[in-house]
Amino acid sequence: MTSQKITRVGIVGAGQMGAGIAEVCARAQADVLVYESTRDLLSAGRARILSSLDRGVSSGKLTERERDQAADRLTFTSDLNDFADRQLVCEAVVEDEAVKTAIFTDLDKIVDDPHAVLASNTSSIAIMKLATATQSAARVIGLHFFNPVPVLPLVELVTTPVTAPEVTARAETFAHDVLGKQVIRSADRSGFVVNALLVPYLLSAIRMVESRFSTVEDIDRAMMLGCAHPMGPLKLADLVGLDTVKAIADKMHEEFDEPLYAPPPLLVQMVTSGRLGKKAGHGFYEYE
Ligand code: CAA
Repeated sequence: MTSQKITRVGIVGAGQMGAGIAEVCARAQADVLVYESTRDLLSAGRARILSSLDRGVSSGKLTERERDQAADRLTFTSDLNDFADRQLVCEAVVEDEAVKTAIFTDLDKIVDDPHAVLASNTSSIAIMKLATATQSAARVIGLHFFNPVPVLPLVELVTTPVTAPEVTARAETFAHDVLGKQVIRSADRSGFVVNALLVPYLLSAIRMVESRFSTVEDIDRAMMLGCAHPMGPLKLADLVGLDTVKAIADKMHEEFDEPLYAPPPLLVQMVTSGRLGKKAGHGFYEYE
């Protein structure tokens, strides 16, 4: 039944995006199965989700009972074969085409429902490339969430010429009606709408630091105070993860061949040295 309500969701990857998507799905009453490749990554992902649910309680958005119910809807596995009965799977692993295509090839063999939604949270990899890694490209779609997922209301919906209309409708209904997100459509072009605009801005800020145009703090203060952004571009780059910013920029540069998207040397050096931003404890700023 294509119109059957989605209640069984699978999330591949429990990093900051996967954990956030798993959390909003569990809060929206779905039964959520979360995959990570190792036990250590699974327990880190579980801790990430539980700590965010606790934050929901301390900020008054969730009652303790709602937090516990959401936590009870989450199960964890390191065997992708457990995803056979899922009606929607959202892949949110590292922004690496080879890793993502391998996951789509596997998911396609594992997920039984011929009308299941096989979604990717990629920011920059062509959905068509992921679709062609499967035997059922009609099930593959882009569902791109924003960090922090529990806070930001947007989802970009990205279809390919071969995505089945019923899969698109199912994915949109789930994102909008079940998760309560606002959905916009984007063409299957690297970066989609948001990152096509955001990433050149983040890279420009990094180039400003590199050329000593201004300081990290002043660039951020400028955009917060002068343009009412909730955070400046360098703190935002740290939040997204500098490795992710670089991976998106590399993909966009590859697709559009525009110097605007080329990762600046400072970004490359920071990633090489492990200064990946907030998740690593240091980036343009230091974190506890
Ligand atoms: N999980 C759950 N809730 C969170 C949260 C998290 N990780 N982070 C913040 N919040 C909540 C807080 O509980 C708080 O809620 P209340 O107002 O109800 O108390 C609210 O968000 C504001 O948080 P704070 O007061 O702690 O801090 P803040 O006001 O500085 O906001 C922020 C923090 C929400 C991150 C805000 O600065 C912001 O929206 N920044 C911009 C983020 C952004 O642009 N993200 C998109 C990045 S691009 C992307 O994700 C896609 C990609 O492909 C790269």
